[in-house]
Amino acid sequence: MTIWSGADLICMKRRPALVLENVQVPRGRRADIAILDGRVVHTGAGAAADRVIDCTGFFVLPAAVDVHVHMRGGSQSAKEDWKTGSMSALAGGVTVVVDQPNTVPPITTPEAFLARIRDAQAHSYCSFAVNSSVTPDIPFEAMWTAGAMAFGETFFAPSTYGETLAAQELSRALGRIHALGGLATIHAEGVTPGEDTDLVAHDALRSPEREREAVTAVHACNPGGCRIHFCHMSTAKAIDVAKGTVEVTPHHLFLSREKTWAGDPRFKVNPPIRSEKERKALWTRWDRIDMIASDHAPHTIAEKALPFSNAPSGVPGVETMVPLLMAEVLDRRITLTDLIRKTVTAPAALLGIPPAGFAPGDRADFALYPQSTVTVEPELLHSRCGWTPFEGSRAIFPETVILGGAVVLREGEFSRRNALWYAGKGYVPKTQGQNTA
Ligand code: DOR
Ligand code: ZN
Repeated sequence: MTIWSGADLICMKRRPALVLENVQVPRGRRADIAILDGRVVHTGAGAAADRVIDCTGFFVLPAAVDVHVHMRGGSQSAKEDWKTGSMSALAGGVTVVVDQPNTVPPITTPEAFLARIRDAQAHSYCSFAVNSSVTPDIPFEAMWTAGAMAFGETFFAPSTYGETLAAQELSRALGRIHALGGLATIHAEGVTPGEDTDLVAHDALRSPEREREAVTAVHACNPGGCRIHFCHMSTAKAIDVAKGTVEVTPHHLFLSREKTWAGDPRFKVNPPIRSEKERKALWTRWDRIDMIASDHAPHTIAEKALPFSNAPSGVPGVETMVPLLMAEVLDRRITLTDLIRKTVTAPAALLGIPPAGFAPGDRADFALYPQSTVTVEPELLHSRCGWTPFEGSRAIFPETVILGGAVVLREGEFSRRNALWYAGKGYVPKTQGQNTA
């Protein structure tokens, strides 16, 4: 893709397709941002453009990348599919998602992988990447050349869907992934056998201590030094022993067992929602947390109403992730700079995709947030699952979302444009033109 500089523009008299006017650049000046061909071409004084959006009164942020979502689809379409999941992402200021491969059936072959890509290309409203499952028998190299973004989440503990790996199997898998130059993303937990009767038991059976041990065990399985990313870490002590990049979810940052009744299966998730004490301890590691990801894991209300031990684990969250954090910014509990680092810059760097941002050449994905909060209600949200564990929380949802320079959401109206597939760096194209949705 051609990247036009401001000077090119003046010489060639190509009008920007869009100018965002009066943007308060975080820790910078007020500027107009000119966009052409999906990139920022100029930040400074405004130029005439095909379309101008006045951003006065809005927080303008580069749009977020969520490296951990379960978009479901196929036999699980009653929970979610690419259309509803990606609309939910856009409505939460997320323009790139990384889909996890524990679909039913799971993504274990290049054929299943490409079918998943085709489904997303046909239906997704946001840009996307898809990971490869990790089982002892997957064809690692073929998954890599098919375009897998990363390998995982690799289940080093059983969860609702997805095959669990034993230590020896994990060791072998990490060796294979390392040889390809790939990234392994790991769900690290330990499970004590027992009766999973309520949230207290769930927390005890998948205890903070076992999570910490699992992280240490993962490192012991990785003598070759494969690049590792830890998914959804739920405790401070596990983070302390993690050597790879660390992702934390909004549900572990904002919810605790004490906030609901112990028998509530809606809050059942792996790793578990912890005690209020553990939740507070997690916040003390804020500076070590590389990124926030939602682990958007929609299940229907009917499934979540099953007796606790039979209910599936997982909560939806792609739409509420940035909005909940924006409310924290408004209350000055976290900084906008940290929010952008942990939801935009660090995830893009982990994946090796172009960063969204304000500088010329940056990917022109933005979200415009008003400066006041609303209360989260399920009716406001777009996931097919129809519920949220954050009901009643304060949040700021974007009013306008821009993807590749096009307005894809404005005042509740969606438009399906510019969604891209980001293939992993091992991708070997078979035919031309596979990279557009
Ligand atoms: O609670 C969870 N649900 N944790 C996972 O790791 C998987 C997820 C799901 O797919 O539902
Ligand atoms: Zn997981």
